[in-house]
Order: sequence, then structure tokens, then C-alpha cells
Amino acid sequence: MKKMKVSFDLSIYDAIEDLQFDELELMNAAVSARKNAYAPYSNFQVGAAALLENGEVVIGNNQENASFPAGLCAEGVAVFQAGARFPGVVIKAIAISAASKKNKVDKPAAPCGICRQSISEYENRQKSAIVLLMMGETGEVYKCGSVADILPLGFDKTYL
Ligand code: THU
Repeated sequence: MKKMKVSFDLSIYDAIEDLQFDELELMNAAVSARKNAYAPYSNFQVGAAALLENGEVVIGNNQENASFPAGLCAEGVAVFQAGARFPGVVIKAIAISAASKKNKVDKPAAPCGICRQSISEYENRQKSAIVLLMMGETGEVYKCGSVADILPLGFDKTYL
């Protein structure tokens, strides 16, 4: 029997203002996208902004549905939109921001499991890591270098 420790590097910024200019701009795009989320059922609004290698920023926000499972998360909307509009263009980074109409979200919101899997597909397809920047409405910003960091032992096409 072998044992292996799986760990990753997480950078923690005290606040959005501590981000470097490019990352600050990307997070600001996520914040504005968040404000247009359609989340009348959960009142939990999420915005995502993906920076592509060609300089484009593609945004997404959560789109809910009266039939709950039909809704989509912000990160999914952003990466699928990037894939549809700019097929084959590398996604360099994705910024995510979440806020709630019910309470203050003062800690970073990390993507849900399905979104980790969705982003991971793009990372595998482009064969390069996607940096993730995660924030609530206020407070610290988490940065990790790859979605694989937060989806260890991920499922991919090699199993099919
Ligand atoms: N949500 C996202 O958009 N991204 C996530 O990673 C977590 C959850 C959305 C889905 C739903 O519209 C609302 O937040 C509450 O779960």
C-alpha cells in the first residue's frame, strides 16, 4: 500500500484591490456579470468572466429556472459561451464572484462540482491550466493555478 498527499498552492489576497491590474479587471467583469444574474429562486447571484488568449473576456452568470435542475451556473455559462464563440481559443483565467440578496457573502465562492468538471474539460482540451480567481461579494480573493487543483482525481476522456 502506498499513501500520497494531494495538496495545492492557494494564494489569498486580502481584498479585490490587492489584485494585479489584469486580474482586477477580470474580477470587475465578473462582478458586473453577477449583477445581471437571473436568480429569482435562490437570490444567490454568481458572475464569471473568462479571459481568453485572444484578449476577449467572455462572461456568464447563473440562469435559474422554475424547474430547478434546468438552471445553469455562471461558470458553465461562461465556459460554454467561450467554447461556442471562440472555439479552440485557450482560456487563460476565470474570475468568479458571488453575492446573495439574503446575506453578505464575505468569503470566496468556489465553483460547484459540476462547474469544476465543466471547466476541467476545457483545461484538458486546451492542454493548459486555467487560473481561477474566486471571491464573494467582499473579502478575500482566492487564486489557484488550475481547476485540477480543486478537482483532484478528476474524470476525463481517458476513461472512455
Ligand atoms: N451557482 C453558480 O452559479 N455557480 C456555482 O458554482 C455555485 C452555484 C448558482 C446556481 C444557483 O443558481 C445558485 O447559485 C444557488 O445555488
